[in-house]
Amino acid sequence: MYTELVMDHFTNPRNVGEITDADGIGEVGNAKCGDIMKMYIKVENNIITDVKFKTYGCGSAIATSSIATEMIKGHTIEEALQLSNKAVVEALGGLPAHKIHCSVLAEQSIKAAIADYYTRQGIDPTLIVGEIHECCHDGECGKE
Ligand code: FES
Repeated sequence: MYTELVMDHFTNPRNVGEITDADGIGEVGNAKCGDIMKMYIKVENNIITDVKFKTYGCGSAIATSSIATEMIKGHTIEEALQLSNKAVVEALGGLPAHKIHCSVLAEQSIKAAIADYYTRQGIDPTLIVGEIHECCHDGECGKE
């Protein structure tokens, strides 16, 4: 059901924790399944130099966030904003269809952290980051 890579990132997640002097912090959640994702970023010269996450979430949310942090670390903010949940799922070799929505939590928490970074810089993030969605909209989050 889950690829080896999903299991690897679930059982040995990368970049778990928090950054006490973070330049941006994003938190997104889903009221229906109760999962919450908090993402911390450090930014230097427009590059995301460090990223960490903490979650109360299912295995798929942990695996997608873990690989997503690896995909944005060392990259520019613009590149991080381009990271879609689809690209994250592809990097993991796929997820079961009913768990795809869990990957949105990773994408949206990164966006929320970047929005917070811009707000702290005195820049309105709305036009740069766009809308930040909750992790799913169908209320079908089944914890597995
Ligand atoms: Fe809601 Fe995975 S994020 S069940």
